[in-house]
Amino acid sequence: MLTGNDLITKQDDCVSNNLSFRNPVANDGPAMHALVERCKPLDVNSLYCYLILCEHFSSTCLVVEDNNEVVGFITAYIPPEKRDTLFVWQVAVDARLRGQGIAKKMIRTLLSRSNLMRTSYIEGTVNPSNEASRSLFKSLAKDCSCAFDEDLIFPAKMFGEGDHEQENLMRVGPVIR
Ligand SMILES: CC(C)(COP(=O)(O)OP(=O)(O)OC[C@H]1O[C@@H](n2cnc3c(N)ncnc32)[C@H](O)[C@@H]1OP(=O)(O)O)[C@@H](O)C(=O)NCCC(=O)NCCS
Repeated sequence: MLTGNDLITKQDDCVSNNLSFRNPVANDGPAMHALVERCKPLDVNSLYCYLILCEHFSSTCLVVEDNNEVVGFITAYIPPEKRDTLFVWQVAVDARLRGQGIAKKMIRTLLSRSNLMRTSYIEGTVNPSNEASRSLFKSLAKDCSCAFDEDLIFPAKMFGEGDHEQENLMRVGPVIR
């Protein structure tokens, strides 16, 4: 279970083993874009999208570096009409570092930031077949002893003629601090 002490760190940046967890800057955009290209089934957005996220939403996003190489990131923001919610847009961890708790640590690090103290729900969308993403959110809910809900948000037909799966909205919370 997460406690206040688990969530609150003195700095926004933290270091775990050889990995550093920090706010992204625009210079990280190309590496984040390249990582997404290696992380199926993520949608590869334009490079411009990652540059803007780093430039405007750095305080709600995070990158993980291993020896100056970006090996993980979360892009997230607070939806204007849901100020108590951190919406996680994309989570990516380099394949060679998966299964070591890095994605969960990224979310916990974000939740510990002073600017996110008022968020008590975490949301993200998931394709029905993405078990890793669903497990991440379920595991977070288990650690926080809070609810996990999942409901359709965008049916497959909204994505046009291709073979894009539907997107379900996952919601975890309330996270007690
Ligand atoms: C999803 C992803 C970010 C998870 O990263 P990770 O660092 O390996 O995840 P963690 O090690 O923090 O695991 C978190 C929890 O999810 C579970 N989990 C992770 N990968 C899993 C998998 N493939 N199958 C089942 N459970 C999985 C872990 O067991 C853990 O739960 P636990 O602590 O209760 O045991 C990573 O697999 C990835 O980058 N995938 C490709 C991109 C993607 O699909 N992103 C998510 C959609 S935005």
